[in-house]
Amino acid sequence: MERPEIPIIAIDGTSSSGKGTIAYRLAQHFGFNYLNSGALYRLVAYEALASGVELDNVELLVNIAKNLEVTFEDKKVLVNGDDIWPILSTQTYGSPASIVSSITEVRLALDETMLRMAKAPGLVAEGRDMCTRVFTQAQAKIYLDADPAIRASRRFVEEEKAHTGKTLEQIYEELLLRDERDKNKEVGALYPADDALVIDSSSMSRDEVLEQCITWCEQQGIGV
Ligand code: DC
Repeated sequence: MERPEIPIIAIDGTSSSGKGTIAYRLAQHFGFNYLNSGALYRLVAYEALASGVELDNVELLVNIAKNLEVTFEDKKVLVNGDDIWPILSTQTYGSPASIVSSITEVRLALDETMLRMAKAPGLVAEGRDMCTRVFTQAQAKIYLDADPAIRASRRFVEEEKAHTGKTLEQIYEELLLRDERDKNKEVGALYPADDALVIDSSSMSRDEVLEQCITWCEQQGIGV
């Protein structure tokens, strides 16, 4: 599939670094479409678990990835008309998503779905390899990170809201494991692109991060 020629903002970063919120708010700011690529990996894991497919069965996982029936609407992830993002976004699917995302064949099967989402007037795509692999042509690239303990406590607040019963320690341990897996994939490993703006948000508010990102995007010619 050809790479679309529209303005693209690509954001990569560690789990719970806040990239989802920032990407969504950037999309609103510039009036662009929003791609949450992690949701696709979560959805593959969700469907695999729901249908009893083992997380190492490459053939069946690829089959699921190629046949996802999903619509993204704003922040919603609609499957059969229901928004399943509140379930998908919990750590329950974070770890299995990290496992299936380590399988190169699954990654390649999802590429086409992602490229199809790059439509006018523009796209904000967030994930782990948006800058470095899927949308290398992006005009503005951003890499977000924060101290693992801070990310774990941010995630803990979300998990409490979803009543998953996970402790802060469990979340912290799972986060470290996911970082390790995300950074050591054969294809699509997480690392900052050479030409990305790198932000450590440990001691920054979301608004401060957003402001820096908007300025950076404008400097790269987006929305000006
Ligand atoms: O961003 P997230 O936590 O929702 O992503 C869920 C998992 O999917 C994460 O552990 C890594 C994987 N992922 C990936 O490998 N590549 C992406 N572009 C996005 C997510």
